[in-house]
Amino acid sequence: MSELHVALLGFGTVGQGVYEALDTHRERIKDITGKEVRIRAILIKDPSKEREIDPSIKVTTDFDEILEEEDIDVLFEAIVGEEPGYTYLTKAIERGIHVVTANKAMFASKGEDLLTRAREREVAVGFEATTAGGLPVIGAIRQLLNVNEITHIQGILNGTSNFILSQMRKEGLSFERALSIAQEKGYAEADPTSDVGGQDAFYKLMILSRAAFHGQPDWEAVPKKGITDLTSDWLQAAESFSLRFKHVGSIQRDRESISGVVEPVLVKESHPFYGVEDVENVVSVKGSLVGRVTLSGPGAGKLPTGSAMVEDFLSLIEGRYASSETRARIGVESLSGRDGEWV
Ligand code: NDP
Ligand code: HSE
Repeated sequence: MSELHVALLGFGTVGQGVYEALDTHRERIKDITGKEVRIRAILIKDPSKEREIDPSIKVTTDFDEILEEEDIDVLFEAIVGEEPGYTYLTKAIERGIHVVTANKAMFASKGEDLLTRAREREVAVGFEATTAGGLPVIGAIRQLLNVNEITHIQGILNGTSNFILSQMRKEGLSFERALSIAQEKGYAEADPTSDVGGQDAFYKLMILSRAAFHGQPDWEAVPKKGITDLTSDWLQAAESFSLRFKHVGSIQRDRESISGVVEPVLVKESHPFYGVEDVENVVSVKGSLVGRVTLSGPGAGKLPTGSAMVEDFLSLIEGRYASSETRARIGVESLSGRDGEWV
């Protein structure tokens, strides 16, 4: 049986999630694609860390060694920050390699550029994992846009902040203790100020904006506030009035412009975000025909994010994003897709 060759950039929480998902769902992937997936190489930063990796896989700190591997079909990127991720993905695309990324800090600003480069090279870019962890929200937007005009998106977009607020309120934990548990569980960013200060939710909102509205507002014009001013007393006082603080990002488009905000808001018991707790995220999309569609579920962590990346991998291999020429090149027939579809 022929093989699909992949490489992983990063072997932290998310990289390990992809590794495990590809391993545990090997048979299922084989049934879907008719091909065996083989991880050829993994890029890491610190060679002194102990890792459980199949010894047949090349582990390297040198990205050029990954590119030197022949016949890599797909690159999964789960490293930290705008660089070097952006440079690595541009090089991969230039080589005609499909890419799947979880790196929202990079994709929020460089997504448009990467998608353009990929179109020119007839390869695909999967970015479902950049936004709301395991929730298939980019796929849902893509589907809704087939006929709907999307006018408004609202969501709890940071699992770490939602986890901290839930734990402070329900368990009476301090902010610091709740954050430290979120870090142990692999929910938080390498620099958690991005989670608790609203920057991470902002990046996701900008990715959603591009996906739904084909554009972004001026970044400086989007107010951003995190959860660091909320105390346990405030959270518990709100609860006694059947209200909860939730950290929410909202973005809307009218005829003239796109505007957004990221901030903590008080929601009533009847609000669909009220019961979204711990690491869950929720995204509510308003479409011109369908009305409001709401998705909720795990917004961070190893396997939910691994799931989103492998879903993207299968979508692009099945040809949902790639052109028929690309599919012909990698030898996979389209099962359900249309040629050259992009968000
Ligand atoms: P981790 O810190 O757990 O892992 C990062 C990995 O990237 C590590 O293996 C690290 O190497 C490697 N790495 C970092 N910088 C470099 C570099 N310059 N060159 C080569 N390798 C590098 O992060 P996560 O796995 O949590 O997150 C990865 C990405 O996915 C981030 O962009 C994050 O925003 C995003 N993301 C995270 C989610 C989560 O739930 N954690 C969910 C969705 C997206 P080493 O192991 O040697 O230190
Ligand atoms: N740090 C992010 C969060 C990871 O807590 O939501 C998922 O993008």
